This record gives sequence, C-alpha cells and structure tokens, in this order.
Amino acid sequence: MFIESTNGKEKYYQINNAVHNFLYLLQHVEVPLPTPSKDEVLIKLEAASLNPFDWKVQKGMLWPLLPCKFPYIPGTDIAGEVIEVGKSVRKFKPGDKVVALVSPFSGGGLAEFAVAKESITASRPSEASASESAGLPVAGLTAHQAITKTIGIKLDGSGERKNVLITAASGGVGHYAIQLAKLGNTHVTATCGARNIELVKSLGADEVIDYKTPDGAALKSPSGKKYDAVIHCAVGFPWSTFEPNLTLNGKVVDITPSSASMLTFALKKLTFSKKQLVPLFLLPKREDLQYLIDLVKEGKLKTVLDSKYPLTKAEDAWAKSIDGHATGKIIIEF
Ligand SMILES: NC(=O)c1ccc[n+]([C@@H]2O[C@H](COP(=O)([O-])OP(=O)(O)OC[C@H]3O[C@@H](n4cnc5c(N)ncnc54)[C@H](OP(=O)(O)O)[C@@H]3O)[C@@H](O)[C@H]2O)c1
Repeated sequence: MFIESTNGKEKYYQINNAVHNFLYLLQHVEVPLPTPSKDEVLIKLEAASLNPFDWKVQKGMLWPLLPCKFPYIPGTDIAGEVIEVGKSVRKFKPGDKVVALVSPFSGGGLAEFAVAKESITASRPSEASASESAGLPVAGLTAHQAITKTIGIKLDGSGERKNVLITAASGGVGHYAIQLAKLGNTHVTATCGARNIELVKSLGADEVIDYKTPDGAALKSPSGKKYDAVIHCAVGFPWSTFEPNLTLNGKVVDITPSSASMLTFALKKLTFSKKQLVPLFLLPKREDLQYLIDLVKEGKLKTVLDSKYPLTKAEDAWAKSIDGHATGKIIIEF
C-alpha cells in the first residue's frame, strides 16, 4: 500500500489493510497506520504466523485477561521491514529486516503494518526468509524457554545427558522443541500422528510414538526409558499418565496448563514431591529471539511450513489453526 512521491521517496497512504477480530468473527477492514511510540518500530509486514493463542483469545478462552476490548487485530508473530522508528529506538533504522513479537495486549499482527517494541524485535539476516522467521516468536521462544530455562538443557551440548519426551512434536512448538533439544545433549522421544512420524524423525527425534496407539496414549517410550522431563505441547493427559513414565526427579513442563494441572502443580509443591509439574507461561526476550534467528541463519534450526495464505484468505488460515492438525507453522504472506 504505497505510492511514490516526486522526489523518489516512498510515501505511505494512511490506510492499513488488516483483519479485525470480533467474538467468533474475522472481518477485513481498513484502519489507519499505527504510530510507533518512542520505544517501538513500525514494520511493513512480509509474513506473519498464527498460533492457537490467537483464536483462543477470540473465543474468549483468555478472558478477562485478553482481549482488552473487541474489535481487536489479532496476530503476534511478524517478520518484515522497519519503515519508521520511535525517538528512543537505537538498534534499528528504516530498511532493516526484522522479526518481532507484537504485544498480545495491543494486538496488530494480521495487518500490512504493525508496531512492535524494540525490546522484542530481532534483526533478520538475509539467510532467514520472512516466512521461516515469522514462525519463530511464540512457538520458538516457548520451546526455547521450556528447554533452556525450565528444564535447564544447555544448547551447546555441555550438560548432563537428559531423556526428554515431547508431546505434539509435529506442531508449532513441538517441532522447534525437538530441534533445540537435540542441540543439547538429549535423547528425544516424541509423540505425533502416524502421518508425521518420518518428519519428526528427520527433525532429530530418537524415538517416535504414534499418539493414537495404546503406547502413545500411555506415553510409553518404545525403549522403556523413563523421562527426566516432558515438554507437554498436547492438550489433556492427567498426572496419572505422566507419573509412571518419569524418573525419580522427573519434571513435566505443561505449556497448556488447565485448572487440573495447576492443582497438581500446587499439590506437588506443597508435598515436596520430587516429581514436579511446572506450568509454563511465555516470558519473551529479544536476546532469545535473536539466538533463534541466528540458529536459522546457521542452518541449525528450521521452520516446517504447514501452509501459506495471503492476508485476503486469513480466515482459511484461522480455520486451519482451529482445526488443530497443522504440521509446523501456518503462515500469512503479504
Ligand atoms: N504457555 C504458553 O505460553 C504457550 C505458548 C505457545 C503455545 N501454547 C499452547 O501449546 C499448544 C501447542 O501449540 P502449537 O502451536 O504447537 O499447536 P499446533 O501447531 O496447533 O499443534 C498441532 C499439532 O499437534 C498435534 N497433536 C494434537 N494432539 C496431539 C496429541 N494428543 N498427541 C500428539 N500430537 C498431537 C497435531 O497432530 P495431528 O494432526 O496428527 O493430530 C498437530 O500436528 C497450544 O494449546 C497452544 O495454545 C502455550
């Protein structure tokens, strides 16, 4: 959405094609370009990715925390080019290629132009395509946080060898989690559907269980190994399913915590249980996003692209995400 002015500089119309999110309804709208505040960058999008978080907000599953109000432009994960920076921004200038996490409180990622805080924007090298980079913010950072901070795996491989289970390993978070876990000194067992077994192996999983088999439902490792940690990206599973599969100090990192798992978390803490369930809530950091994008540049981390849609077909991408059967990331291209 731009015109050329007579002196050759690009001039932007004050129109931003976006998607508005009403309760249970997406609508294409034209809205004014957002203005970056002093610590923000204005980005012209090249790609965005969807996360289950986006439609969970729409369905009111995170209410009253989010959204602050409807209508709301959904979408948090974006990649594009900086076109304007706020007064106190130091790391970026117009023309820089970046990947960023838009604040879920203000929203704005499913639009041609969006603002993001400098503090959660990372430089994007030419080796990392916009689509591949746009997959990273929520899913990649969640996988990174679970592996490095909650479980304590060192990604240079220098730590003690751990045995890790990753559930829903074919999904957005899970497919990054396998690759990151393998950078550490880790034996990975993964669960996924039969159609994704070869893909999950190719990402580095040592053992794979089809989640629709009895062993998959019981989360049993084919080799009989107990897990030092579980990165639980699937929904459901009571503590009684995890418990017999854990080592003495085994830990379940639950990235989809329910009220039942919050209760288990509290009970395990109060009873000083050696086996723990830890709910994970993403605390995004720029340096971690930069670390991930640098891994992409070095060819050590890849984004599996489930599908790509133009912004005009955002509702199809949305439906695909709600369906819950994406392999890797669903991308919107601009
Ligand atoms: N706590 C946080 O901060 C945080 C951050 C990010 C994500 N999350 C949450 O984490 C969950 C996963 O996110 P995501 O982006 O990875 O989702 P996703 O990409 O939509 O996951 C889809 C994948 O999960 C697989 N799957 C579904 N149920 C499964 C099961 N029981 N066993 C094995 N595989 C299964 C599907 O395989 P099939 O197609 O074969 O069924 C599909 O490949 C979501 O609920 C999301 O909201 C939380």
